[in-house]
Amino acid sequence: MTRRLVSLWRFVRPERRTLAVTFLFSLLGTGASLYAPLLTRRLVDDVILRGDWPAFPRLLATMVLFGAAGSVLGGFSSYLYTRGSSRILVAMRAALFEHLERAEMRFFARTRVGEIVARLNNDMVEVQGVLVDVPLAFVTSVLRLGIASAILISMSWSLFLIGNVLVPLGALGLWLTRDVITRMSRELREKNAAVGTHIIDTFTGIRLVRGSATEGQELRRFERENLSLVASVLRYQWISSLSRGIPSFVLACSATLALLYGGYMVRDGVLTVGTLVAFTAFQVQVISPIQNLLGQYVALRKGKASLARVFEFFDVPAEEDAEGAVAFTGIAKGIVFEDVTFAYGAEGRVLDGLSLEIPSGGTFALVGESGAGKSTLVDLLLRFHEPQGGVIRLDGIPLGRFRRATLRRKIALVSTDPYLFHGTLEENIRYGDGQGWPSAEAGRDAPDLVASAAALVDSRVADAIAGADLADLVRSLPEGLSTVVGERGVALSDGQRQRVALARAFLRAPEILVLDEATSSLDLLSEERIRRSIRELMRGKTTLIVTHRVHAVRDADRIAVLSRGRVSHIGTHEDLMGQRGAYRSFLRVCGDGADGAGEGRGA
Ligand SMILES: Nc1ncnc2c1ncn2[C@@H]1O[C@H](COP(=O)(O)OP(=O)(O)O)[C@@H](O)[C@H]1O
Ligand SMILES: [Mg+2]
Repeated sequence: MTRRLVSLWRFVRPERRTLAVTFLFSLLGTGASLYAPLLTRRLVDDVILRGDWPAFPRLLATMVLFGAAGSVLGGFSSYLYTRGSSRILVAMRAALFEHLERAEMRFFARTRVGEIVARLNNDMVEVQGVLVDVPLAFVTSVLRLGIASAILISMSWSLFLIGNVLVPLGALGLWLTRDVITRMSRELREKNAAVGTHIIDTFTGIRLVRGSATEGQELRRFERENLSLVASVLRYQWISSLSRGIPSFVLACSATLALLYGGYMVRDGVLTVGTLVAFTAFQVQVISPIQNLLGQYVALRKGKASLARVFEFFDVPAEEDAEGAVAFTGIAKGIVFEDVTFAYGAEGRVLDGLSLEIPSGGTFALVGESGAGKSTLVDLLLRFHEPQGGVIRLDGIPLGRFRRATLRRKIALVSTDPYLFHGTLEENIRYGDGQGWPSAEAGRDAPDLVASAAALVDSRVADAIAGADLADLVRSLPEGLSTVVGERGVALSDGQRQRVALARAFLRAPEILVLDEATSSLDLLSEERIRRSIRELMRGKTTLIVTHRVHAVRDADRIAVLSRGRVSHIGTHEDLMGQRGAYRSFLRVCGDGADGAGEGRGA
């Protein structure tokens, strides 16, 4: 834990000046509050008991001044504290966010979004507390404790001893409960995340929930999770009241003990009344830092649970490009899979010694039954996963030698179920165009400038839209390209979303276009139009089509059939029609009048 905390120093470092000033201010504030009881002593002993009234107004004025100075310093220091610590929080959140953006894809298959949200939000706050609040409070408290103790000892060391004899007892209570506190904090954090996750799941899958009429079931689960969280909160409350309550009680007893002993000292004339009043007033200055220290200890135990949860995510392996990786610009010869083996986790191999050559230029089709590993092969090409065996080469260069970002920019992938962000249609089409999200923010300051710049790129957008057969849709929408499409593009049909994704891919003018069942929701007419624009837009470039539809496959330059993790057949449509086997059965299963169509063409 210590090593990990030290590794977080890089987030604190940029704010060290702000924090140092905060610290200084709070020390000054402490100084002011420490001085106050000494003034009380003078008030009682000199003014009230000895009748030095001329000094009274000045003494009062000084007391007011110190009080005011303490408040002002306190205000400043808490402002600076908030500034420094929230910046640290932002930096740590951004670092984890960035790390998870690059985390290996496997991580997302096993991690629920709610868990990510919880750790980025709540756990980070706890970690920030451990990082900033605890050390700051520790140093201030220790200093206060030291100075206050010295002053108390100077007043009467015997009284000081009596007053603090019980303190270790209070600390003992806390020490005994420390592991329970950590365990319960962890449990609290987990249950909190579970509730958040369930909310996200339910409303992301609201169509399924409604469609299955399981609203009641989800509600009951939600209630159950919440009640379980409440139960944990209550249990935690018990432990934390105990761990705070015992020390508080012990400290209160100490104060009483000091008063009792001090009272007798005054009676015996060894102590002035002023000193006793000042001493008891001052004892707060010892008790509160002790309470504070014990409280920080509890925070530390809580933070320990969150720290572990945050670091669990920091430890997820992330994609790193190889040393000296080069940019991918395009292919002249082709893509080669050499004896590629891949398995997700421990289960059986999805690709088992697969070898395949996809020549550059033209259209290559990949067919195979559902679950054959077609999408997996595509994912390997985009380096979403790394093969366990074999190698994939682009123009002879192993895939691993390219920088991932450049590969992914030049290889456009369109899948069956494309994702649309909440935003306008135009923003969704332009997403990943290397220009970020264009119109929305850029236009605010210089609308005319952006408009003329937009006109330049607009012709590209218009081409992409036409190519993806989206023109009619855009025209029919009341706000055209500025129409906002919902969180997941729910305002659009599946086919329309697929066409948005196609337009997005066309706009990027990719070197390699991969369509993974990307036209599965389109009608035949639309698909035919899109196939024509692909031929046009991808002239001289490479297109890889993964599909079940025969007519899309038929005029591909080459077709490969994937079966049992390998390529079982490869050739043109006519070649494959000539052979008995997977391809013909594939056509038959597709129900595309396969045999008839094939024969009609062959004749
Ligand atoms: N993220 C994953 N984790 C574990 N297994 C997976 C994952 N994705 C796919 N699979 C499995 O790998 C096999 C091939 O899947 P996939 O490549 O999607 O097939 P296809 O696209 O040909 O239908 C399937 O058996 C599937 O269950
Ligand atoms: Mg698939």
